[in-house]
Amino acid sequence: RLRGDASPAKCTRQEQRWRSDHGIVDARERFVQAYGRLRDDLVGDDSCELTDEARRWLAQMIDYNVPGGKLNRGLSVIDSYLLLKQGSEVTEDDFFLACVLGWCVEWFQACALLLDDIMDDSHTRRDQICWYRRPEVGLRGINDGIILKCHILIMIKKYFREKPYFLDLLEIWSEIALQTSLGQMLDLIGTHTGADDLAKYSIEGYRRIVKYKTAYYSFYLPVANALLLSGAKLEDFSGLKDILIEMGIYFQIQDDYLDCFADPNTIGKIGTDIEDHKCSWLIVQALGHADNNQIEVLHRNYGKKDSSSVSEVKRTYAALDLKDIFSEFERRCYNHLVTSIEAQKDHAAREILKSFLKKIHQRKK
Ligand code: FPP
Ligand code: MG
Repeated sequence: RLRGDASPAKCTRQEQRWRSDHGIVDARERFVQAYGRLRDDLVGDDSCELTDEARRWLAQMIDYNVPGGKLNRGLSVIDSYLLLKQGSEVTEDDFFLACVLGWCVEWFQACALLLDDIMDDSHTRRDQICWYRRPEVGLRGINDGIILKCHILIMIKKYFREKPYFLDLLEIWSEIALQTSLGQMLDLIGTHTGADDLAKYSIEGYRRIVKYKTAYYSFYLPVANALLLSGAKLEDFSGLKDILIEMGIYFQIQDDYLDCFADPNTIGKIGTDIEDHKCSWLIVQALGHADNNQIEVLHRNYGKKDSSSVSEVKRTYAALDLKDIFSEFERRCYNHLVTSIEAQKDHAAREILKSFLKKIHQRKK
């Protein structure tokens, strides 16, 4: 029997015995164990007459793109589910269903990253060369991204078709897939390349892009899945949703900061925002604080691929103390989130939000 806490340290002796009888160390390990079964099912699926070569490609493509991240999004389905079920029994079957939905979120993330790396001309991801940059892949990677997206529906149909919340699951997945794609579209068509176009970047435009491209799928999707699995109605948790979206925006601001200032060995990817002329939080802040000379330097160098232009932009960021501006933003944002969380009436909602905030506050990767 499992109670609403994924941490083995807080188990009763009885629960610990149950865990060791089942060869289980913790929720994370059980989540990781579920991956192989889901991958093998998808590779072995006989609805299409795949050759051995095709099955080998599929297995390799999934292994390369799906499991190698921090797994925060997938694990947060399980953490949230256990918190929602606090005090009541979670069977082994229910725990596995939470793992399936957690892996669906990881599959979604893999698809989004694979495609985003092609669009952003990125080099590395999760400490390895981007999938599309492998010589045998190239633009075939686009089709692999579509396959990963299709896998989600296969898994949901296989395990949830008979559940009373099946339609709600389908609706939330299709709604958030569209929101994420539209967010990516806002990012791409809002990425202007002319020097004068920098003036078009604003904090309102920035928040709109990242709310859709990142916050919905990274923060709300895992919790929405846990809510449905626990038998709750999504409309009863709109306050929880609003705070998760706010946290998602904060998370992407951290991503933009790390893109420029973190060591690529730490974050497992080489930042490309300056070269790609992205509407990053840093450039929006820089434009808001720069004098005329600095604005001129930014206009001249932003969005250029050569390393001396990138260095000029970074020098200007340093002169503007953007690291301090970010630290101050992070402090205020954290305090604001804590206040909003404390105002939530539902105990499980507060605990879910606290657990998310703890994972991302002052993250270094
Ligand atoms: C990362 O932003 C943004 C995303 C991962 C979202 C990308 C979305 C798509 C490609 C649409 C996918 C649609 C579906 C249905 C899965 P970033 O480039 O700032 O982050 P990075 O620094 O990690 O590259
Ligand atoms: Mg990118």
